Amino acid sequence: MDKSYIFLDLEAVNRPYMAEIRHALERVALSGRYIGGGEVDALEAELAAATGTRFAIGTGNGLDALRIILRAYVELGCLSAGDEVVVPANTYIASVLAISDAGLTPVPADVDASTSLMTAETVAAVLTPRTRAIMPVHLYGRVCWSEALRELADSHQLKVIEDNAQAIGARAAVAGRGGCHRAGALGDAAAFSFYPTKNIGALGDAGAITTDDAELAAAARAIANYGSDRRYHNIYKGVNSRLDPLQAAVLRVKLPHAGRENARRRAVADTYFDCIKNPAVELPAPAAPDECVWHQFVVRTAHRDAFREYLLHHGVQTDVNYPVPVHLQPCYAGELSGTKAPEAELQSRTLVCLPVSACTSVSDAREISEIINSYRP
Ligand SMILES: Cc1ncc(COP(=O)(O)O)c(C=O)c1O
Repeated sequence: MDKSYIFLDLEAVNRPYMAEIRHALERVALSGRYIGGGEVDALEAELAAATGTRFAIGTGNGLDALRIILRAYVELGCLSAGDEVVVPANTYIASVLAISDAGLTPVPADVDASTSLMTAETVAAVLTPRTRAIMPVHLYGRVCWSEALRELADSHQLKVIEDNAQAIGARAAVAGRGGCHRAGALGDAAAFSFYPTKNIGALGDAGAITTDDAELAAAARAIANYGSDRRYHNIYKGVNSRLDPLQAAVLRVKLPHAGRENARRRAVADTYFDCIKNPAVELPAPAAPDECVWHQFVVRTAHRDAFREYLLHHGVQTDVNYPVPVHLQPCYAGELSGTKAPEAELQSRTLVCLPVSACTSVSDAREISEIINSYRP
């Protein structure tokens, strides 16, 4: 084996920003302001502007962003205990945990074979009179949004809570609202994760909520800060989930480069599309330039373990996001055992994530494709 193709090296991802990050961290250290303050306010304003929403609220992580949105809807009387929230069966467990945590009922929907996203059809198949919200997850960086999904949500008066942990900077066309809108500005509220492996990652945990809804924004901000709307005045039994100013300062360095980071991923994805030609390896659906920011490049193959072993033998590291659909996780055994999501289950057994991060060059992608083309099951 001559060369290694690393799946993800976070130190290498952050290296180009290190001088500015050092400066930003020092600025916070010397500010004497270690909770909230100017860095968090500025990051929130910059994220809202980049997303195209009126409000952004920093949180401790992406899971909390989802939990706080749902909790705020419960506190505001828009959702109540036992209401059903439809969520894709192949998402990361965080999406579903947030729904349970708010006392709501997660209802997993199956996904499309080529995009791996929940669709209007798969949502319609699990709607019941108790459905009150849907949680489109922009999985692998691809926007989960369509006219049909919007119409379905509108006609059933469903809240739309985007899980935008994986698709910062992606865009979808929105009929009736003129042109394209960013992931995070498509539904009623959205959760972002800045977990270090995300397209824009912090140096630890961090997350945010975006919304145009002033009432929701105020409730979410209070819930994230002990339920307090002003000092020593608690209107909700809230939590402590604030965006750390050190992480806000790091994110302020990296956020302006989201377009460049995403373009680099797109170039790698385009190379895979051009070069992988092996009937044993199924490619994902192609995407319009901004429709997917390629958080993961996911192929499918029948003999996954053998394929991954072959790739590793040739120096190519891979990953599997995610090997177990949410309804088959032990913590949901019983509760979600009635779920019918055959496509999500099939994908969980056959999917393989190829390297696509800032550590992967276009020539790496070409070489990886050649290795894949020589694979024989
Ligand atoms: C789809 C999805 N939702 C939610 C989360 C939760 O984000 P965090 O790890 O920041 O809590 C993640 C990432 O981990 C994710 O990939």
